[in-house]
Amino acid sequence: MSDTDFLRANWNLLEGFRSDQSKGVEHPDLQKPVNENVQVIKLPEAESGIYPDTATWEAINMRRSIRKYSGNPVSLEELSWLLWSTQGVQKVLGDGIATLRTVPSGGARHPFETYLLVNNVTGLEPGLYRYLPLDHSVAHLGEQIPPINVINGCLGQTFCGECAVTFVWSVIPYRTEWRYGPVSHKIIALDAGHLCQNLYLACTAAGLGTCGIGAYDQDAMDSLLGFDGDDEFVIYIAPVGRRE
Ligand SMILES: Cc1cc2nc3c(=O)[nH]c(=O)nc-3n(C[C@H](O)[C@H](O)[C@H](O)COP(=O)(O)O)c2cc1C
Repeated sequence: MSDTDFLRANWNLLEGFRSDQSKGVEHPDLQKPVNENVQVIKLPEAESGIYPDTATWEAINMRRSIRKYSGNPVSLEELSWLLWSTQGVQKVLGDGIATLRTVPSGGARHPFETYLLVNNVTGLEPGLYRYLPLDHSVAHLGEQIPPINVINGCLGQTFCGECAVTFVWSVIPYRTEWRYGPVSHKIIALDAGHLCQNLYLACTAAGLGTCGIGAYDQDAMDSLLGFDGDDEFVIYIAPVGRRE
């Protein structure tokens, strides 16, 4: 087993596996209980009114995984907002050793690339694109990947192809390994959560919807995007569309 294996979608490991849930075992506590003798202090409601910026409150409070989209296009301005919110570069450090972006990343290594499977974005031909964060531009890499192939690559989850644009994030582990060697992979997994959370919040703020996708066929998605599966491979997917 290689150091990066746990970053892949290893759903084949579930073949023949029976979870405690499927065996009818009682579910675990939703929260670790406190001892009876411990004082518990009720907090005030987390209301929007106490913050000067209610948009932040609303984006956090309204965030939901959205799996149905209206079919109307996403605009280029909206796509720009989503890309900037997830990978936008605010500062290049030193002579280009690292970047500071709108999401945190361990050691500022930012090991991800953002590929866009564009189906319905005003001002962009359907096709395969890659975000260039240093230029805040998108590179048009090729023709549209047929949505049915994306759906199949996402284990039959139809909304992954029935959306305006699918974000497919790849990881280039060496970017983090260059600095942290064998300690990198947990950092990469944590980085990926920050990335998609910002997509959720940016979508919510813009009246769009998304859903993080961890259930996909690793080999199928890597081959659709043309990755070798070692130096670069798919780590996370997120379809985006207008909320209904
Ligand atoms: C790492 C990760 C992987 C996920 N993978 C999928 C997926 O493959 N398909 C799906 O429909 N939802 C997926 N979800 C969404 C969760 O099912 C969802 O977050 C959960 O049901 C709670 O709903 P909420 O996000 O609306 O609060 C994933 C979420 C995360 C964080």
